Amino acid sequence: EKGGYEHFMLKEIYEQPRSIRDCMRGRIYPEEGKVQLGGLKEFTDKLKNIDRIIIVACGTSWHAGLVGEYLIEEYARIPVEVEYASEFRYRNPIITEKDVVIAISQSGETADTMAAIEMAKEKGATIFGICNVVGASIPRITHAGVYTHAGPEIGVASTKAFTAQVTVLTLMAFYMAQQKGTITNSKLTELLTELDCIPDKIHAALQSNDIIKEVSAKIKDASNCLFLGRGSGFPVALEGALKLKEISYIHAEGYPAAEMKHGPIALIDEEMPVVFIATKNSSYEKVISNIQEVKARKGQVIAIVTEGDVEVKKMVDYCIEIPDASEAFLPLLATIPLQLLSYHIAVMRGCNVDQPRNLAKSVTVE
Ligand code: F6R
Repeated sequence: EKGGYEHFMLKEIYEQPRSIRDCMRGRIYPEEGKVQLGGLKEFTDKLKNIDRIIIVACGTSWHAGLVGEYLIEEYARIPVEVEYASEFRYRNPIITEKDVVIAISQSGETADTMAAIEMAKEKGATIFGICNVVGASIPRITHAGVYTHAGPEIGVASTKAFTAQVTVLTLMAFYMAQQKGTITNSKLTELLTELDCIPDKIHAALQSNDIIKEVSAKIKDASNCLFLGRGSGFPVALEGALKLKEISYIHAEGYPAAEMKHGPIALIDEEMPVVFIATKNSSYEKVISNIQEVKARKGQVIAIVTEGDVEVKKMVDYCIEIPDASEAFLPLLATIPLQLLSYHIAVMRGCNVDQPRNLAKSVTVE
C-alpha cells in the first residue's frame, strides 16, 4: 500500500507530479487561454463584482490560503484577508452578503473551519470550499466548491494536499481574473502553458533528494531552525517550519525574511540552521542581503535557489536547486525540497513520520 516507499509521507511527496496533474485535469485549456471551474459556474456573475474575499482555514491549509492571497490580489485584483478559522469564529467579524468566503480543508472535517463557515453563512456570505475528501462535511455545507483531487492523504503531515490546494487557488485566481477582465487572454495563455509544465518541474525538483539527504544529515541535531522567505516565499517558509516541527520535533519558525532584524536575529549563532527561499524572483536581491546578515552572524544557511544560480551559491553553506518558473508558480516548487528536508531529518532522528505524537489527521474538536 506504500507502493515501495518506506513511509506514506514519502510516497505522497513523490505523488505530487501526478496529483497536481489530476488537480488541473479538465480545468485548464492553455491553447485557448481559458480556465474552467465547473463548481463555480453558477457564481460566474457574482465573481465579477466581489469587493472582498475572506479565506478561512487551519494549519497547512491556512498557509495555502496565504499563497492564495498573493495570487488572487495579483491577478484578480480583489482584496483578500486570510484568517485562522479558530480566531475568526470567535470574533465579531464584519461580513456582508457581498463577501465571498473561501474555506480550505484537506479533510473537510475540521471543527473550527466548519464553525467559521456556519457563522459566515448566517451573515449572508457566499461560501466556496476547497477540499480534498470528496463528500466530507465541509463540501456539504458550502454553496459551491472545487475539489483538489489529490487522492487520499494518509501521512498526518500534509504534503500533496497542500500543493493541490495551492494549485486550486491558482486556478481560482486565474478564473476570477478571467471573469473580471483583469488579465489579458495572451497573458493567461502564457501562464497556463507554464502551469501545464509544473508537474514536470516538480518531478525535476524531486531529483534533489540525494543532496537534501546530505543536508539533512548535517542539520539533524539542531534544536532550533529558522525558515525565511519574502513575498509568496513567506508562506512557503511558514509551511517548511510547520512540517519540520510536527514530524521531527525540532523547534522551527517561519518568518518574513525582512522581519528577522526585528527580533529573531538575536537567536542566530553557529548552531542555528537558517533555511532561505532564495529563488530568482522580484525579491531576490533583498533576500541576498538578508542572507548576508545571517552569514555575518555565523548562522548556517541552507538556500533553496533557482537552477543555475551562482550568486547565492557563493555565500551559503548548502544550496538546493529547483527549476526556474514564473513567480506565480514558485510556491509549488519551493515547497518540495522543504517537505523532503523535514522528512529525512525526522527519519534520521528516529521519529514516527507518518504518525507524529499528539497529532491527528483530522481535528474534529475545537
Ligand atoms: C499539517 C497539518 C495540519 C492541517 C490542519 C487543517 O501538516 O496537516 O496543520 O493542515 O489540521 O486540516 P484540514 O486541512 O483537514 O482542515
